[in-house]
Amino acid sequence: MMAFRSFFVAVFFLLFLTGAASAKEKMTDSMNGYTMAQFGEFEKTWHLVTSRFRRDTGEMRLTYANDIAWKALQEGSSDYPDGAVFAKIGMKTEDDPDFTSSAVPSGARRYQFMVRDRKKHADTMGWGYAIFTPDGKATFSPEDQEIESHACSACHEMVPHRGYVFSQPMTLAAGRQAQPPKTSAPQGLMFFETVDVAALPDAVRREVPAGVKQLRRLHGPFEKKVFTGTMGEIRPALIKEALRTRSPAALVGDGTAFFALAYVSPDKPDCDAHGKKGISVVSMFTVGHAANKTPAIEKNTHCEPLAP
Ligand code: HEC
Repeated sequence: MMAFRSFFVAVFFLLFLTGAASAKEKMTDSMNGYTMAQFGEFEKTWHLVTSRFRRDTGEMRLTYANDIAWKALQEGSSDYPDGAVFAKIGMKTEDDPDFTSSAVPSGARRYQFMVRDRKKHADTMGWGYAIFTPDGKATFSPEDQEIESHACSACHEMVPHRGYVFSQPMTLAAGRQAQPPKTSAPQGLMFFETVDVAALPDAVRREVPAGVKQLRRLHGPFEKKVFTGTMGEIRPALIKEALRTRSPAALVGDGTAFFALAYVSPDKPDCDAHGKKGISVVSMFTVGHAANKTPAIEKNTHCEPLAP
């Protein structure tokens, strides 16, 4: 598990470095007019909404709400007033060296914000998006920020019924029943469709194993504008679908050169996943900036443990 996890951690770390390096000379402190500094020590003064964990990358995420956003959450309202802000910290985790069956946060990887201003951010559903490196620099250069904001918004459009906010307060108080996540999602927002490989862009076709005529293409609001972050978030869903159907599964960005693809290794699928029976999966995704017409492809093979 650890090697598998470190592999993904390495890839994602590299991915963020690559993104940051190509825009280095144009690095700025702000995105959409927001800086890290203006949110101060939000992790000490705002409300902790919830925590999430990515099993494949070992990444822990904490979401915070300022007072305005928190009030709306408490009232169960998805109609956030202007001034509401959410923050999310993505953190690496490592085994505690003194007790290795417990993983501890080991440093922030990035900070993300959503600021409610219906007028200013009318073209991204009333939310202004910002993403920063751990040292408070904007992850994207000024000329990439608009397209990246739309990529953020495109995925958050998965949850219109929650006001485009995924996080819901977790119930932890003693004696209170944990609330399962609300599942009033509009049907069909995210779905797979079987498509002909021949109809896909060249860059994707080249990567599909020889002889495969059809694959499972993922659709959702996020495909309108995809960027490297979308690929990272969506990859586990593609792997799951490839395993379920034994057909390659892909996300192909509309009008961009970005895509992600996963398939079961055609040659030698059986493998050993740390003592468990596993299946060998090839997965890849494009890395770089949305403005790049020929992004590089990050490709890997790993052994996915089969459910017992
Ligand atoms: C492919 C989907 C996807 C993309 C793209 C995406 N997000 Fe999110 N975002 C999520 C999910 C899912 C959550 C829930 C928490 C989690 O799983 O980490 C979330 C949570 C958040 C939160 C906490 C509030 C909430 O909605 O739960 C903020 C802030 C946030 N994202 C900002 C951003 C920013 C800024 C970008 C663009 C740089 C972005 N997101 C791009 C899927 C996405």
